[in-house]
Amino acid sequence: MTAPSEIRIVNDAAELFKAAADEFAMLAAQAVHRKGSFSVALSGGSTPKRLYTLLASKDGPTVPWSQVSFFFGDERFVPPEHPDSNFRMVNETLLSKLPAPPENIFRVCTEEASAEVAALQYESVVKDHLALGSEGIPRFDLILLGLGPDGHTASLFPGTAALEERKLLVIANWVEKLRAYRVTFTYPVINQAACVMFLVSGKEKAEIVREVFENPKAELPAQRVRPVRGQLLWLIDQAAASLLSGERI
Ligand code: 6PG
Repeated sequence: MTAPSEIRIVNDAAELFKAAADEFAMLAAQAVHRKGSFSVALSGGSTPKRLYTLLASKDGPTVPWSQVSFFFGDERFVPPEHPDSNFRMVNETLLSKLPAPPENIFRVCTEEASAEVAALQYESVVKDHLALGSEGIPRFDLILLGLGPDGHTASLFPGTAALEERKLLVIANWVEKLRAYRVTFTYPVINQAACVMFLVSGKEKAEIVREVFENPKAELPAQRVRPVRGQLLWLIDQAAASLLSGERI
C-alpha cells in the first residue's frame, strides 16, 4: 500500500524555492529532534540550484547543518570538477558555504575505474551510513528529485536498464540518448525514503507534468516513484502546472 502523495502548486518560482527550503528545514528539524541526524539525497540538474542557493543564504531557514548527511540521488560519470558534475554544482551553490563537516558529505566517487565500480562503491557507502528500513534497505529522511522533459527522474531514463533493477540500490545506467553512463539510485532505495520531494518549475515542464498526473498509460519513470512507507510531495509552480486539468490519476 503506497503512502498518500501531495501535490502543492505555488504561484511562481520564488514561492517554489521558499516552500522547498521551508520543507527541507522542517524535515531536518524533525529528524534531528527524533534521532539526532538528518540524511538527505540531493538532486542534480538546473532546477534545485535556486533551492541550494537559498538554503545557503542568510535568507534561508535555520537548518542544523552539522547533523545533516549529504548524499546524491544520481551523478554524471564525470570528474568532480567537470561542469556537468552534480557534486560540483551542489558544492558551489550549497556545501562550500555551509558549516557542514566534510565527513558528512558523501559524493559518488567518479574517479573510480568504471561507473559500475563507482556505483557498487557508493551502494556500500549508503549502506554503511544509513539506518535500514524494511527489507534491510537504507531509509533516507529525504530524497530530492527533479523531472526531466521525458519523464525521467534521478537518472532513471525511459527505456534504460536501471528501471527494472530490484536488488541493487545504486546502479551504473547507460543512457543511449546521452551516450553516457549515469550512476543512479534505483526504485528500491527511492521508494524506501521517509519523504520524496519532487521540485518542478517552468512552463517547459507543463507537458510532462500533465503526462505524469493525468496519463496512467504513460508509464513514465517518475510515475513509479511511490514511497512504500513515506510521504511523496510534489512541489510545482503554476507555470509547470499550467496544463493540468484537475483530473488526477
Ligand atoms: C540530473 C538530475 C535529473 C534532473 C532532471 C531535471 O542529474 O540531471 O538528477 O534527474 O533532475 O533532468 O533537470 P532540470 O532541473 O535541469 O530540468
